[in-house]
Amino acid sequence: TVGTVPAEGQLTTGKRQIVLGFSQLGTESDWRNANSQSVKEAAEEAGIELIFENAEQSQKKQFEAVRGFISRKVDVIAIAPVVQSGWDPILDEAQQAGIPVIIVDRAVDVEDASKYVTLIGSDFYEEGEKAGKFLVDKMAGTEGPVGIVELKGTAGSTPSIDRGRGFADTLQGHAKFKVLQSEYADFTHEQGREVMKSFLQEFGDGIGVLYAHNDDMALGAIEAIEAYGLKPGKDIVITSVDGTRRALESMIAGKINAVVECNPLLGPNLMQAVNELMEGRTLPKKIVTPESVFTEVTAELEVNNRKY
Ligand code: AHR
Repeated sequence: TVGTVPAEGQLTTGKRQIVLGFSQLGTESDWRNANSQSVKEAAEEAGIELIFENAEQSQKKQFEAVRGFISRKVDVIAIAPVVQSGWDPILDEAQQAGIPVIIVDRAVDVEDASKYVTLIGSDFYEEGEKAGKFLVDKMAGTEGPVGIVELKGTAGSTPSIDRGRGFADTLQGHAKFKVLQSEYADFTHEQGREVMKSFLQEFGDGIGVLYAHNDDMALGAIEAIEAYGLKPGKDIVITSVDGTRRALESMIAGKINAVVECNPLLGPNLMQAVNELMEGRTLPKKIVTPESVFTEVTAELEVNNRKY
C-alpha cells in the first residue's frame, strides 16, 4: 500500500483519536502540579488528544472552559472542581450537548448524580480521620489540654470540608484536645505562612499541634513557626496531608511528624476511564485511590520514590 499521512485527528490504526477537555482548577500546590503533569503524560501515553485549561482557582473560569469544550465538540469532559456547589447548570449544558463528564479529584454536590459519569479521587474524610488517629496515638502520654490550630484549604472545597470533618469526628471523645482556631489558607504555601503567623500572634506557645489540610500550607507555616522562635515538629506537633517530596524531606529533618498520603497521579485512571467510556462500558460511580500514612519512621524509606 502507498503510505498515506493520517488525516488530522486520525490514529495510524484508523481509529479516530479521542478528544478530552480537562478543566484543571489551578496551580495552588505541588500536589496540583503533579496532578496536571500526570494527566498530560497519561493522555500522551494513551494517544488521547488533551485540551487542558487552567482555571486559576476560579469556578467561573471552569464554566468558561467547559463551554469551550462543548463548542469544540470534545468526546469527553473532565473537571477537577475547585468547590463542591454550583455545578448543576454547567453539567446540564454538557448533558444537553451529549458529552459525558468525568469528575476528577474533588467532588461536586449536585441534585442528580447522573449528571456525571464517575468521580476519580481520594477519600478525603478518611484522610482527616487518619490525621486525627495519628494525633491521638502520638499524644497518648501527653497531659491536656492540647491546643490545636487548623489550616483549612479552600472554602467550599471537598478536601477541606471532609478532611476537617474526619479529623474533628476522630478527636471527639478525647477531651484533652481543644481546637483553638481553624482558618482557610487556600491550600497555598504563602497563605499557610501568613495564617500561621496570625495564630502564633494570638495563641503563642499555647499551640501544641498544627493540623494542615495540605503540605504546602504546612511548609509555609513552618517558616512562620521558626520565625517566631519555636521548633516545628518538637514544640508544635505538625501533621498534614498529601505526601510531597518536600514534605517528606521536612519530616526527615524532624519538622513534620506525620503526613497522610493523597495521591495526585490520577492521569492513568482518567485515561482508562475515558477509553472505557468510549467503548460503551459502564464505570463505577466512584473510583477511589488507595493511600497510606507517612511518619518520621517511613519518610526516609519513601522519599526517593516520590515523583512529586
Ligand atoms: O484536592 C486535593 C487537594 O488540593 C490537595 O491536597 C492539595 O494539595 C490541593 O491543592
